[in-house]
Amino acid sequence: MDAIAAYSVKGGVGKTATAVNLAALAALHGRRTLLWDLDPQGATSWYLETRAEPAAPLDRLLRGKGLKRAVQATRHRNLSLLPAGPAYRDLDLHLNDMKRSRKRIAEVLERLRERFDTVIIDCPPGLSLVADNVFRAADMVLVPLVPSWLSARAYEQMRAHLRDSGIHPGAVYAFLNMVDRRRRVHRDFRQRLGRELPDLTDIEVPYSSLVERMGEDRRPLVYSHPRSEPAQAFAELWRRIDGRMLP
Ligand SMILES: Nc1ncnc2c1ncn2[C@@H]1O[C@H](COP(=O)(O)OP(=O)(O)OP(=O)(O)O)[C@@H](O)[C@H]1O
Ligand SMILES: [Mg+2]
Repeated sequence: MDAIAAYSVKGGVGKTATAVNLAALAALHGRRTLLWDLDPQGATSWYLETRAEPAAPLDRLLRGKGLKRAVQATRHRNLSLLPAGPAYRDLDLHLNDMKRSRKRIAEVLERLRERFDTVIIDCPPGLSLVADNVFRAADMVLVPLVPSWLSARAYEQMRAHLRDSGIHPGAVYAFLNMVDRRRRVHRDFRQRLGRELPDLTDIEVPYSSLVERMGEDRRPLVYSHPRSEPAQAFAELWRRIDGRMLP
């Protein structure tokens, strides 16, 4: 089983859009796919039209109990969801109270190994205990970067944190999201900062109202508009992840 996390220190950069579309692509390619939402906003449930509340209390889930009932089928083939509810607001506190507080998410994934080929994790923003859990659990951490200085800085903060804490996720890659080629700062970003950023792929997901419209359509963009530019960019991202051909 592959565990791939969409993560960023920063909020609003496209983690959820990425997680939902990559999960949809994995499912489309016949992988038994689980999208695990760790964000109390529960946006994935909205996009996939499932119930927003997990069927088991969070502390039980973190002990690997009640997973069977908590995992929901979606209306898309091969795609299941482990939704987040408002209780996930306290995910950090729950983890903090537990033994092996940095390994719980990895342990839950271990229990899901038989049932799924691919797990995509949608993370909340921030460098929290949740993030440390995800870094330990993921085979690959994918970081969407909006082309801005602060975004680059946040990415470097994350890399520094990984170095300092001695946590080594399988792999970490960044890609640009919300790129508007009409804007000079966006066009210049790669030239000015790209070289300093380790493992920045050359994939760019354009700024597109189709991504925003996903909230209205409540379908992954790669299903509703597969030929669109952003869908093609996500598809290329998936191809490279699948073949481990990044950047
Ligand atoms: N490529 C894009 N083009 C246009 N809008 C986008 C794009 N990617 C994301 N968005 C929009 O930006 C907003 C934030 O995206 P998203 O929810 O995926 O970010 P996030 O990093 O998960 O945010 P949060 O930190 O709140 O969880 C959403 O309204 C989404 O529709
Ligand atoms: Mg999100």
